[in-house]
Amino acid sequence: MTTLYTGIGELVTNDPSRGDGSALGIVGDGAVVVDGDRIAWVGQRGHAPDADSRVDLGYASVIPGFVDSHAHLVFAGERSAEFAARMSGQPYAAGGIATTVAATRAADDSTLDRGLERLAGELRRGGVTTFETKSGYGLTVADEARALRLAREFTDETTFLGAHVVPQEYRDDRDGYVDLVVGPMMEACAPLARWVDVFCDRGAFDVDEARTILQAGMAAGLVPRLHAGQLELGAGIQLAVELGAASVDHCTYASDADVEALAAAADTTVATLLPGAEFSTRATWPDARRFIDAGATVALATDCNPGSSFTSSMSFCIAVAVRDMYFTPAQALWSATAGGAAALRRDDVGVLAVGRRADFVVLDAPSYVHLAYRPGVPLVRDVITDGVLLPRP
Ligand code: NIG
Ligand code: FE
Repeated sequence: MTTLYTGIGELVTNDPSRGDGSALGIVGDGAVVVDGDRIAWVGQRGHAPDADSRVDLGYASVIPGFVDSHAHLVFAGERSAEFAARMSGQPYAAGGIATTVAATRAADDSTLDRGLERLAGELRRGGVTTFETKSGYGLTVADEARALRLAREFTDETTFLGAHVVPQEYRDDRDGYVDLVVGPMMEACAPLARWVDVFCDRGAFDVDEARTILQAGMAAGLVPRLHAGQLELGAGIQLAVELGAASVDHCTYASDADVEALAAAADTTVATLLPGAEFSTRATWPDARRFIDAGATVALATDCNPGSSFTSSMSFCIAVAVRDMYFTPAQALWSATAGGAAALRRDDVGVLAVGRRADFVVLDAPSYVHLAYRPGVPLVRDVITDGVLLPRP
């Protein structure tokens, strides 16, 4: 069964060999043919081949589905009181994670599953067609493995983050906790995950601990990614590059040497910026220009979590990234789609080209620029994922 989509005033392909020749590969008066879950043809409507059925989108714009490469969706409870206190002047510290750990441990599977389902639905309705999610609010062997088992029902992109923080019961025995993470926890969790991650920052894990844990994950067959530079300048970004991590995330604090290292590793390690975290912790915005102009590969992701960034909206992240991090609208869209795909080392998503997954989003706007130009407005009209047009809510 093939379907021809027309009525696309502006079609963003992320294929620079197309259309206007920019990184976004924009085709005017575009059309897409979908065959099953894949794209069979992309181009101008006048040249489109015939298909079994036709859908006229009525001169909307179409973009690749968003790829959210960083989220923490398996948790119970919420921390609005902590947010309100922060907005009244309290600083953000990683300590709040303990509140969510306690609630998550106490929750039954169905509570966690309902939470996941709700957030996965929000992501999907917001145009996210691929997302990653992490463990990290269990911090026992059983609770970390449970988080990953539940997450796998929703995504293939699961990340073992047993090293989110040292849990309270190990407060006086950090080394004991690192031993647990690299030993029994890794053994239970590695078969349930694709990635291994560490929160390498003030109040969490130092760079030596992070190296030990990431190397243990690599030995267990996982690919490393890292939280670094959220709260202070440290050696985490250099560690991510040294280990060939797929991504280093936050990068709110990055030295010139860090930016240079990321630029040199642009084919290996993506710098993932998380505007929701700066927004919700009222932190200083990183200047995306430093990374982009140096030649680093940059992704944008939600960091959806109940503490530091409780948004599932990639549109919101794009708007803020443009307004406050100095992305151009084109760079922000690229980073939220193709950039996220690079951060997950996926070549089947993030680009609308023949053979790729038929994952795309119809915007109720003449141009993708409206994602930043009309902040807070729900512009995502339809979402096509694996070739299937999702029903509107
Ligand atoms: O990515 N940085 C570490 N972890 C989360 C915050 C988690 C929380 O506060 O619950 C983040 O921002
Ligand atoms: Fe995070």
